[in-house]
Amino acid sequence: MITSKDIRKKYIDFFVSKKHTQIPSASLIPENDPTVLFTTAGMQPLVPYLMGETHPAGKRICNIQKCIRTGDIDAVGDNWHLSFFEMMGHWSIGDYFKKEAIEMSFEFATSKNYLKIPIERLSVTCFLGDENAPKDLESAKIWENCGMLKNRIHFLPKEDNWWGPAGLTGPCGPDTEIFYHVKDISEKNTLEFEEYNKTGIFCEIGNDVLMQYNKNSKGIYEIAKQKNIDNGTGLERLTAVLNGYNNVYEIDNIKPILKKVLELSGMENKEQFELNENHRKSVRIITDHLRATVMILGDDKAVSPSNVDQGYILRRFIRRSIRHAKLLGIQKNFCKLVAEVVVNEMGSVYGEVEKNKDFIFNELEKEEEKFSTTLENGLKILEKKLEFLEKAKIKELNAKGAFDLFQSYGFPLEMTVEICKEKNFSVDVIGFEKLLKEHQELSRKGAEQKFKGGLADESFATTKLHTCAHLTLSALKEIVDQSIEQKGANITAQRLRFDFNLDRKLSLEEIKKIEDWVNNAISQDSEVSMQILSLKDAKKIGAHGTFTSKYGENVKVYTIKGKDGVIYSKEICGGPHIENTQNIGHYKIIKEESSSAGVRRIKAILE
Ligand code: SER
Repeated sequence: MITSKDIRKKYIDFFVSKKHTQIPSASLIPENDPTVLFTTAGMQPLVPYLMGETHPAGKRICNIQKCIRTGDIDAVGDNWHLSFFEMMGHWSIGDYFKKEAIEMSFEFATSKNYLKIPIERLSVTCFLGDENAPKDLESAKIWENCGMLKNRIHFLPKEDNWWGPAGLTGPCGPDTEIFYHVKDISEKNTLEFEEYNKTGIFCEIGNDVLMQYNKNSKGIYEIAKQKNIDNGTGLERLTAVLNGYNNVYEIDNIKPILKKVLELSGMENKEQFELNENHRKSVRIITDHLRATVMILGDDKAVSPSNVDQGYILRRFIRRSIRHAKLLGIQKNFCKLVAEVVVNEMGSVYGEVEKNKDFIFNELEKEEEKFSTTLENGLKILEKKLEFLEKAKIKELNAKGAFDLFQSYGFPLEMTVEICKEKNFSVDVIGFEKLLKEHQELSRKGAEQKFKGGLADESFATTKLHTCAHLTLSALKEIVDQSIEQKGANITAQRLRFDFNLDRKLSLEEIKKIEDWVNNAISQDSEVSMQILSLKDAKKIGAHGTFTSKYGENVKVYTIKGKDGVIYSKEICGGPHIENTQNIGHYKIIKEESSSAGVRRIKAILE
């Protein structure tokens, strides 16, 4: 058996021997990139360098990046898709290009000292060409010169052989991919590549993106200033195929998780292939989703389950696991038991997972407790609704039905859709989104009224600190430098964490001045008001705003104005905020430290 640990080491050793510098995995939660919720590829944190910035580690880099992909969440349960996976990657940042990249990929795959894959077990694909880029005959020739069998080199269109950009714009290009044949096809190599690929006996094990274009905001592919190579090699898939497994759940660091799920469902003596299709799918979904959950909760920039952004995805992973556990007859409080196995498998590779394990277990227990109590009743209600619809010969659950399940029973929309689909019903998803939006607007108003009464609950604590975040930005601009911008913020009921651009430490004197400035604004019983303006008008009135691309045409501008008539802050923001700074407490900076290159971090509290 070759383990994931062996393969990690081989990959890094090989590329370090080819003069690449190893860098650590970035966080799963992207820094300053509001266009994506999670890091989905190793290249994502490297975009500025792929666009021309100088990387401190040089022009040849390699690493193993933690990735979350939710685009394929419905495919999870099949043989190859995982929500969390480790992507081994290496990059040429304006250094070598096609020839060296392909030669290295070939050598790593086939060399006696590395993966030792027999050439007959490999196929490669190259870009077929279209109006944006020509057919990639050059790559095909390089593969052939390396020794790749000629009838194993295939040309495929953009859907298959083009990668990027990771968000809406940025570096991208045609790619060339390596496939491993899970079964030997040398005897009857008669089918087209696509035909084999459909049968699932080809598994992609590596992708070299030949980055030479930049997709701009108008959707045009411009020739990039710098040519790069972006290689991605999925660790789990590679480990599976090299061991002769036809699915990723058999590999050394996933199998124990799957085994735990089998044990909890009373099927400890069974292997995957002995399960019926539905049971196999449920076991795999729980294994995959709780593994992803642990990695997100274990990240140093972890979020908690919630109804927005990353927190919502996390909630979906956990709640979907709980529902599938129910299908398998697993009793309550199982998430932590599975999570312990994940921490065991991943904690030695990613120290933060071990370090944050209490947080992981607590969050899981809380979420499981919350949802388990409503799941059963929600399922009963849904069943009744569907029975009624069946009788009325209606094949769609209406928006209100799905919304009730969401609001009263905590069913994520996608879970309702999944359950309905299993019973051949569709769901009015668009109507649901509309109801949700209306509801959010209403509840915001409700929350503001609650704040008037000064309820000292958690959301009030975070909202106060949110308003202080705006004052912090203004103070930094006033006292330190007008060019300072917010680079990220994270607020809990206890403290505000605020990141901003500055290439030096703040002095003690500056910290004191910032505190005084904010406390003065607070002592002016400042009113916080909100107006909706077009982005253009918001800029015209001088509103601060960093992440403007996140917002639509109209934006909300929050203004903080003291009884002395001074406007202490004007900022584009989604809210919510307190109405008045009266009696919110004394603002204190408890920490000032470096966050990343050129970015400082302040931690502040209200006491
Ligand atoms: N960015 C490419 C991918 O994700 C190669 O790393 O496949």
